[in-house]
Amino acid sequence: MRLLVCGGAGFIGSTFVRQRLLEHGDEVTVLDKLTYAGRTENFHDFAEHGSFRFVQGAIEDAAAVSGAIEAAAPDAIVNFAAETHVDRSIAEPDAFVRTHALGTYVLLEAARGAQRRFVQVSTDEVYGSIESGSFTEESPLRPSSPYSATKTGADMLVQSYFHTYGLAATICRGSNNYGPYQYPEKLIPLMILNALHGDSLPVYGDGMQVRNWIHATDFSRAIGHVLEHGVAGEVYNAGGPDEEANIDVVRRIVAATGARDSQIEHVHDRPGHDRRYSLSSAKVRALGWEPRVRFAEGLEQTVAWYRENAWWWEPIRSGEYRAYYERQYGRALA
Ligand code: NAD
Ligand code: TYD
Repeated sequence: MRLLVCGGAGFIGSTFVRQRLLEHGDEVTVLDKLTYAGRTENFHDFAEHGSFRFVQGAIEDAAAVSGAIEAAAPDAIVNFAAETHVDRSIAEPDAFVRTHALGTYVLLEAARGAQRRFVQVSTDEVYGSIESGSFTEESPLRPSSPYSATKTGADMLVQSYFHTYGLAATICRGSNNYGPYQYPEKLIPLMILNALHGDSLPVYGDGMQVRNWIHATDFSRAIGHVLEHGVAGEVYNAGGPDEEANIDVVRRIVAATGARDSQIEHVHDRPGHDRRYSLSSAKVRALGWEPRVRFAEGLEQTVAWYRENAWWWEPIRSGEYRAYYERQYGRALA
């Protein structure tokens, strides 16, 4: 297949690109704006691959999008491009509205014009919080943060292009991802790097919020399944095999890194914090997908990866991220 992967320089997008190039023999063009979260370092092991091409540009820029479609001549467009951190969406929602609403619209128009298949990568957060049980694709959409509300808007726009124009579009909604190459503003890499540096481990509120963890390689394979076998107009949830309270995740990281329990610090809760996410994946499992990585093992491997790949995170921890951390947590990193 020939693919245009938007947002392919980020954490999950680059994991997906690696899989498609190296395991499926696809031809892949990445279109990415390179925000703080997009990094060409994520291409380090396939940048020179003959079937890989990178175009820098924003999905809200119609000229950049049509240029990338011309260069890639893709069979399908897979859209990962997004602002992805809930805390940043609370502090500064502008870019979330621009990228998710305007950007998705520009991409959909281009896909409609060129008559290309379209896969929108989305999140369990569009369903909101659930105390018990799991969300299915039929669950109502009740997003609660500017991040999840704008992702929901993008999903609804994608569905409108299927219903109104017959665009062959599918949506794949994942639960919380973890694994190598994740920007350290997110819970797991933040805690790993802070643990390794002797920094405090800032747990929001009581730490009893539950997340449904999926390894990024498993979510990427689910997106590939939806791309290959999904029915146009349908939504597919892909949740991980394990759920865990944040405080237990942090305790695992303390044990795996040899940090001290006393580094754990309960801090002010996130405003509007969703208590629990949980996804039923029966529909994508029926397409033949299942997750392969259990959380305990995947987390150990992720800790080992961050230990061994300081070249990847050192430039982040010494750059803009330090200022972000001070704004968000009211203290400096060690
Ligand atoms: P990320 O923040 O690591 O990467 C996002 C990428 O999108 C970056 O490369 C960035 O440069 C690019 N980008 C941002 N705005 C852009 C724009 N306007 N035009 C072009 N490129 C732009 O994110 P991620 O964790 O890899 O998430 C990828 C997708 O998966 C997102 O759509 C996200 O909503 C979804 N998702 C993430 C998770 C998770 O736990 N991380 C879970 C479920 C779904
Ligand atoms: P995060 O990785 O931001 O993902 P999401 O908000 O999309 O689920 O956060 C995961 C959970 O960890 C969430 O309940 C918020 C919590 N959290 C902390 O307790 N401390 C932190 O410093 C961060 C970044 C998150």
